[in-house]
Amino acid sequence: MSPSSKQTILVTGGCGYIGSHTVLRLLETGYKVVVVDNLSNSSYEALRRVHTLYGLSTGEKDSASPVERLIPFFQVDILDRAGLCKVFETHPEISAVIHFAGRKAVGESGRIPLDYYNVNISGTVNLLQVMDEFHVRRIVFSSSATVYGDPPKIPIPEESPIVASMSPYGRTKVFLEHIIKDLCVASVLKQQQYVKEREEAKEIVERNYEWSAVLLRYFNPAGAHPSGIMGEDPQGIPNNLMPFLAQVAVGNLEKLSVFGDDYPTADGTCIRDYLHVVDLAQGHVAALEKLDQEQAAGTYGCKAYNLGTGTGYSVIDMIKAFNKAVGRELPHVIIGRRPGDVPNLTADPRLANRELNWKAEKSLDEMCADLWRWQRGNPRGYSGASQ
Ligand code: NAD
Ligand code: WQD
Repeated sequence: MSPSSKQTILVTGGCGYIGSHTVLRLLETGYKVVVVDNLSNSSYEALRRVHTLYGLSTGEKDSASPVERLIPFFQVDILDRAGLCKVFETHPEISAVIHFAGRKAVGESGRIPLDYYNVNISGTVNLLQVMDEFHVRRIVFSSSATVYGDPPKIPIPEESPIVASMSPYGRTKVFLEHIIKDLCVASVLKQQQYVKEREEAKEIVERNYEWSAVLLRYFNPAGAHPSGIMGEDPQGIPNNLMPFLAQVAVGNLEKLSVFGDDYPTADGTCIRDYLHVVDLAQGHVAALEKLDQEQAAGTYGCKAYNLGTGTGYSVIDMIKAFNKAVGRELPHVIIGRRPGDVPNLTADPRLANRELNWKAEKSLDEMCADLWRWQRGNPRGYSGASQ
């Protein structure tokens, strides 16, 4: 049994696409979870599916118990301070937070930037304040490859500048990385001062001020759980390539528009590093283990890691790969560039491979096959489920 077993992790945004896959992975690896989500971009049905999958994977008696027993759930907004306090009061055993909750549509963030700054920044600051109040000072934060803007070097190492993000959404991630880092730095100074004062007074040092954080910069998450019963369920017309293609395949949308074929790449379309969502979920378990190791060694801090495969594929590559999974050619048309897109975002994942002991394992074909299994079986996402 790993030292992490039985720890309780608060997962904000745990009903969402990446959150739900991570909740399942946490349960499968022996953690307990508490979920906070305001359901603004998700459905409670996702947690019912997690419950089913956990039951199938363990064959355990737990599967017969209610969803709420396995996954305590709070429909709370991260801006709601009293609501968050209630969560920590009810679950004093929470030892760390994985923070997914927030708004994520790049285009929309340009139209309503204040909403993005409010939810992503004020909401996260609120969460951090409540965590501090309850002495839960370990966080894994969902950052994004978008923080790199248009990077000078491919594959992108973590030390690439993160000042050039192209959208208000991206800037929320840049600011939040700085905020979390500042908090970790300040807490070390506070702890040093506290230890000094206690030593001078010959008192025992018992309180721990120190924050530690792992910032995970995801590249392009795609795919679904291999069971086909859990996946991405975007509201309205998807903004992202793979869910859009999946909706074309089930006939909800007519054809894909490819945004530009005049980029400086082999086929002229943009290159991205697509990463299976189940691999990404495992990256969060790896990050929690890293926080444990740091705590054990007394080396607190804040460190960013790229979560990607290290291999880039163009939009045309992705269409071909998904066509193969579906077994027919999906219609697409080339149109003009989408503002804000950059030619290539491919990760250098070696730091995460080395320090988090994490590596993306799943292939592009698995990603496409799993996405297709999910979309074929759930053409209307979770809203098609009997409630
Ligand atoms: P998602 O929208 O599926 O999940 C986010 C969840 O947060 C949803 O369940 C939503 O209901 C909830 N939420 C939103 N605002 C909230 C609020 N104010 N209070 C409480 N809950 C709230 O998105 P996802 O794809 O799972 O992304 C999770 C995180 O990862 C986000 O922070 C996103 O910015 C980041 N990220 C996503 C991608 C991607 O391509 N999916 C890439 C990089 C980073
Ligand atoms: C991939 C490629 C498009 C849709 C975004 C965010 C990033 C992260 C992941 C949250 C690009 C092309 C897309 C379509 C297309 N999310 N495309 N037709 O833009 O790399 O990253 O999602 O953090 O922050 O910026 O992902 O899936 O939107 O696009 O041709 O209908 O597909 O131009 O080249 P992107 P994407």
